[in-house]
Amino acid sequence: MALSNDDTPVAINPAATEAPAASDSSTMGKAASPQDDLHLGVASCAGSNCHGAARPYQNSSVVQNEYTIWNREDPHAKAYAILLNDRSKRIARNLGLPKPPEASKICLDCHTDNVPVSLRGKRFDINDGVGCEACHGGGNRYLGPHVSGEVTHQQNLDFGLYPTEKPLERAQLCIKCHVGDQDRFAIHKIMGAGHPRISFELDTFTEVHKHYVIDADYQKRKVVSSHANTWAIGQIEAARRFIDLYNNGKHSHRGLMPELSFYDCEACHHQTDVPSDPMRETRPLPPGDSAPAKLLWEPRALSLSIGPGVVRFNDSGFVMTAILGDLLDHEHGEQIRSAIIAMHKASQSDPQSLHQALKNIDHLLESLQRELTQHTYTVADCRELLSDIISRSRQNDFYSYAAAEQAVMAVEAIRATLKQQGDSSVTDHSMDALRKATQNPDAFHPSLFRSAIGTLGSP
Ligand code: HEC
Ligand code: HEC
Ligand code: HEC
Ligand code: HEC
Repeated sequence: MALSNDDTPVAINPAATEAPAASDSSTMGKAASPQDDLHLGVASCAGSNCHGAARPYQNSSVVQNEYTIWNREDPHAKAYAILLNDRSKRIARNLGLPKPPEASKICLDCHTDNVPVSLRGKRFDINDGVGCEACHGGGNRYLGPHVSGEVTHQQNLDFGLYPTEKPLERAQLCIKCHVGDQDRFAIHKIMGAGHPRISFELDTFTEVHKHYVIDADYQKRKVVSSHANTWAIGQIEAARRFIDLYNNGKHSHRGLMPELSFYDCEACHHQTDVPSDPMRETRPLPPGDSAPAKLLWEPRALSLSIGPGVVRFNDSGFVMTAILGDLLDHEHGEQIRSAIIAMHKASQSDPQSLHQALKNIDHLLESLQRELTQHTYTVADCRELLSDIISRSRQNDFYSYAAAEQAVMAVEAIRATLKQQGDSSVTDHSMDALRKATQNPDAFHPSLFRSAIGTLGSP
């Protein structure tokens, strides 16, 4: 089995020497990137006077128990350990990897801070999984200054701290592993071997397992992005990355077939046993039914032209960008929607047309990204987004599970921004209904989801 160039040998726990001191580094002032500086290892951050306190500190600008939270609650701390379990062993075996998962670059690139050996400090330990410096950047230059407490946030950034608070930069960071990049990508073969499907939404994924507190002091030091803004920036960036991976990555095709992970999973994976009452008119699925969904083709505005029985390109990452386009003006949204429709048509014609159609979407997203970077989400904006989600649901935009899941996370983010402005029109009841309708991918049914989303309309 050819998994191509992904399995170059990986040295584990090498004895690396520390890099030159901060002051004479030639990378000073360069845009921060987690790749730039020597990674000192989680142990260098975890001291009890540093970020390893058992309880939050009262008179410090940061809570200082970040390590404790990360270690106890954050799956990133276990991301390497996961590679030692039976499921990972089975994935590696099924893929025919020459080495066990914990020594295979293809797995390590996403499941730990797999920086080159030359960037690993003495206390760096590959077993630490996705550690502090995988997100905050190599600490070699900022560790000393930031401990002194006498430097500004900007100075920390100049010393190589990654700007995780900025939504676009954060999106680019998380998306590397949660969508993929030119070096790492969870291809269908990996999923076929037993890897879970990967989904991502920047705001929701930032909020779970949070190891910091946004208080008055934080707001003095950093600009805080609203939930809706974080969601919006994350949506556009993830969609653009997805297009880039297809158009410019090495994974768009696999021999005769296109790379299947770019397509809607449910275009292929559902029970083919068509029930005798296909419209379920006389036997509606009871709410909460957990029997595997017998998904039946339904018309859907965005992909109507390609009809039933075809493999749909996965547009679950694009539908929300059209809704964001509507927020600027209806024409913007319609342009994105027409481009998605054209993309589906092109997907059934030839690879060049699909490539061009995706390029056209990306072009529109690039300008949407520019227009929205400075946007402030008012109550009126949030309500407009919600009502657009409701009306697009009637056009069956959220027909696939992946799209429905995005819709739920979108509503969560928008709801959080509404709440911060004193508006609680999205009730717990309708939020629960949405979560319930997407709880189990195998029991997902588009019509149940449409009715759940309908409850949003009645605040
Ligand atoms: C593109 C990045 C990427 C690559 C490549 C990758 N993974 Fe993952 N893996 C993830 C992410 C992200 C998750 C979490 C998915 C989720 O729950 O959203 C995950 C989840 C898993 C899980 C389930 C973990 C759990 O908590 O149940 C296992 C097991 C796993 N990966 C093993 C592997 C193995 C083995 C390889 C190498 C063949 C590999 N992964 C390659 C990103 C990746
Ligand atoms: C998966 C990425 C990720 C990992 C891993 C991670 N962080 Fe964070 N961290 C973030 C994000 C995102 C924020 C919030 C945005 C910000 O303030 O930069 C944050 C915020 C913080 C803050 C708050 C800063 C402030 O200004 O109040 C501290 C301190 C921190 N992290 C330390 C750590 C430590 C120590 C570790 C390792 C034990 C760690 N982080 C691991 C992503 C990560
Ligand atoms: C170096 C790769 C990498 C980076 C960068 C990264 N993650 Fe992850 N993330 C993973 C892997 C791998 C897992 C799965 C871990 C497991 O299940 O053991 C994961 C799991 C998660 C989970 C848990 C998902 C679940 O289904 O429970 C959340 C939430 C998450 N990441 C958020 C983020 C956010 C937010 C960022 C950016 C600030 C980020 N991640 C950056 C690799 C990464
Ligand atoms: C074009 C059709 C197609 C699409 C789209 C597709 N798959 Fe598959 N999938 C297949 C085929 C074919 C197999 C192999 C079945 C076999 O080996 O019998 C498979 C196998 C799998 C398996 C292994 C199942 C098993 O029983 O071992 C998983 C898991 C999987 N796919 C997940 C996904 C996910 C997640 C997506 C969406 C990102 C997806 N697939 C998209 C056609 C598809």
